[in-house]
Amino acid sequence: MKKLRIGGFLSVVVTLVFVYALVKWGIPAVSREVTTLPFPLPVPGALMFIYMVLTVIALFLFVTFSDEGLDDFLRPVKKFLRGGYGKIPRAAVLVAVPALIGWQFYEITVPKVEVPASLRIQHPSSNFPKSFEAKQNLVANPTDAQIDAFIEQAKANEVQFIPQVQEDVENWSDEMDPDHVLEFFPVEPVKQLLAQLESGTVEKETAKAALMEKNLFEGRALYAMNCRPCHGDSVAGDGPMADGFKLRPIDFTDNGTIETIVEGYTFWRVTNGGPGLPTEATPWDSAMPEWKLSLTEEERWKIILAEYDLAQKTPRIPESH
Ligand code: HEC
Repeated sequence: MKKLRIGGFLSVVVTLVFVYALVKWGIPAVSREVTTLPFPLPVPGALMFIYMVLTVIALFLFVTFSDEGLDDFLRPVKKFLRGGYGKIPRAAVLVAVPALIGWQFYEITVPKVEVPASLRIQHPSSNFPKSFEAKQNLVANPTDAQIDAFIEQAKANEVQFIPQVQEDVENWSDEMDPDHVLEFFPVEPVKQLLAQLESGTVEKETAKAALMEKNLFEGRALYAMNCRPCHGDSVAGDGPMADGFKLRPIDFTDNGTIETIVEGYTFWRVTNGGPGLPTEATPWDSAMPEWKLSLTEEERWKIILAEYDLAQKTPRIPESH
């Protein structure tokens, strides 16, 4: 049986096409089988370039390995140039190849009209009111009056909660029938406060720590109700709605976000949301709602307290301090 033999030139062309097809469609098809994803994983352009360059180098070595190989490769090329395949095809190719290369070169070098790249400023501040800079979190440092009021409420077993969680706490109380509503928080500072209430002498420091726990709880609850859909349970900007926005809700656990800004700035961002941002925050607009429309100042501060706590970050200290 006569072996089917294709010439050196044709086998080079076939190999190039085969490798290209393998990388372009073969690898994505296999990746789809391996990953069982509903879509193939495309091969990056840079990788394609590397594969093709390696293939060309390998073919070059292969063809030039021996004089016979080179002759074999060049035979059809020479024949073509001498007009062995007809004069018209030769003329067509000799015009088309330089024209194609010239056109490609023109495409690459001709200046194009493009939207100028504009960098987005993560923390735009041109319209940030200076007076906000030194703002302290209202609920992070309870005043003596607030602590005293809390002690009174605790003594009377009538601790006030924000309306958003009141019902849950009441339901829990009905079910568990606790001696004191603060048993709702089984954490050390609250346990200490309950023990001190029992013994009759309440220390201010203990009451303050317990009040902070309550504020944090309320802040976390408000966060879950308002911010979680975008900023996520993990506070990493991966809530169920996050993928829907071109400008992703921010990841609070990232070092470049709420850790680098003073608390007054965080408060300003939460208060005014996307609509409050100046033009340098574009080209993508933030979908953050304007929280001053639906949350009181105290609620916003409670959320910010919880937000930093959940992200395990501390706000930047204002320069003047
Ligand atoms: C509709 C989705 C959405 C909701 C709901 C939402 N955010 Fe945002 N948030 C965003 C987007 C989008 C940004 C802008 C991200 C950026 O600037 O890179 C943002 C930015 C922020 C920033 C600015 C951070 C920084 O580093 O400058 C803070 C703080 C913030 N959000 C807090 C909150 C709080 C608190 C809540 C709940 C009261 C909330 N967000 C609810 C989408 C949302």
